[in-house]
Amino acid sequence: MSKNIAIDGPAGAGKSTIARKVARELGYIYVDTGAMYRAMAYFMIQRGVLASQSDQISRICKEADITIRYEAGEQQVYLNGQNVTAYLRTEEVGNMASASSVNGDVRQKLVELQQKLAAREDVVMDGRDIGTVVLPHADHKIYLTASVAVRAKRRFDELCAKGEPADLAQIAKDIEERDHRDMTREISPLKQADDAILVDSSDMTIEEVTEKILSICRS
Ligand code: DC
Repeated sequence: MSKNIAIDGPAGAGKSTIARKVARELGYIYVDTGAMYRAMAYFMIQRGVLASQSDQISRICKEADITIRYEAGEQQVYLNGQNVTAYLRTEEVGNMASASSVNGDVRQKLVELQQKLAAREDVVMDGRDIGTVVLPHADHKIYLTASVAVRAKRRFDELCAKGEPADLAQIAKDIEERDHRDMTREISPLKQADDAILVDSSDMTIEEVTEKILSICRS
């Protein structure tokens, strides 16, 4: 049976950085489920669909064929045969992903894909509903979080390092809005699974968080 590790938590808690490192250490595949929701959002944006048009989203998501491949150990997301990985990490796509991921048809399609992948491979999978819905029987479940202020500052530093314009107060406001949407949506809201271990990374370095999670996975 394949080994499954679930890491959930809010936007900006460092899930993808940590999950990637943990997967590398354990020799597992890292599955970034947010990227799948982002690919779906990218498809909606390209088709001119608005976040508020839920009927359109339900209908159009059926036309999006999303697949995952691994190239040089890195996850690549293909949308209808095109590698769209490079277009997914913008604020526009992230905000649309948060909005369109409330849709039940979108979730059903992507959860199925995630479950098939996890049944086949040893995975570290990160997202919002992995421990609660996608892999309720995961071998280990982590809920990784950090304060809004710390998450906003990390994102601010990231943008500054890339030479992109950044407004700390606006970033904090966006994070709060996204948390609220992700935590209060009707289907599969973000919440800590009863059997997940809480890790608050606010005052921890990336290395410390990675070590902590590795020690949980090896225990
Ligand atoms: O982790 P991320 O920022 O790449 O995720 C983008 C959006 O996708 C996030 O705001 C909520 C949604 N998402 C989800 O609903 N379920 C998941 N398992 C992963 C992401």
